[in-house]
Amino acid sequence: METTNSNKLALAFLGTLLATMALGIFSSAIFSPHKPIKAGYELPAAEVAAAAAPAAAPDDPLPALLAKADPAKGANDTKPCQACHSFDKGGPAKVGPPLYGVVGRPVASIAGFAYSDVLKGMGGDWTYDKIFTFIKSPKTMEPGTKMTFPGESDEHKRADILAYLQTLSDNPVPFPK
Ligand code: HEC
Repeated sequence: METTNSNKLALAFLGTLLATMALGIFSSAIFSPHKPIKAGYELPAAEVAAAAAPAAAPDDPLPALLAKADPAKGANDTKPCQACHSFDKGGPAKVGPPLYGVVGRPVASIAGFAYSDVLKGMGGDWTYDKIFTFIKSPKTMEPGTKMTFPGESDEHKRADILAYLQTLSDNPVPFPK
């Protein structure tokens, strides 16, 4: 009984092995003529969806994010912004308006800066909440904005940036509760 069983097992194993080898040979015979003309990586749909997921994920509540935010990390995270914005007190307009003291400042209020119509029409002051949403994806949040920055999808980095912006003020605006 024992021997027969293990013989069966061995046969089954060999059979599977052969079938796998045969499949390999067949499939390469079938598929090799269809090599893609353009070399490159085609990501499986699942991976693409996974990569796109963080941007679509809803954000945690801002007060909770701000409570854990780190202004030093935020200063570092503004490196991409610095290509277009000055963060220094009394700093000049560059591609974008200077951002020292931007929290609590009326939207589109730097004199002489050629804001887009959409920002000029926004009204109100920049709050933590508004900046948090705006820099996530400027073109989506304010279609027509001149800020051609693709956006920072990481909510923690955006909260860190806000914590840094809080320090850039003579009268820092308290975080929302
Ligand atoms: C490619 C250049 C560019 C980059 C990078 C960029 N910005 Fe801007 N930003 C602009 C421009 C241009 C405007 C004016 C937008 C308009 O008028 O529609 C602007 C406007 C703003 C405003 C509104 C200011 C005001 O006076 O009303 C804020 C806040 C802001 N940017 C924050 C950021 C932050 C934070 C980052 C980095 C995470 C960043 N920007 C990255 C170009 C840029």
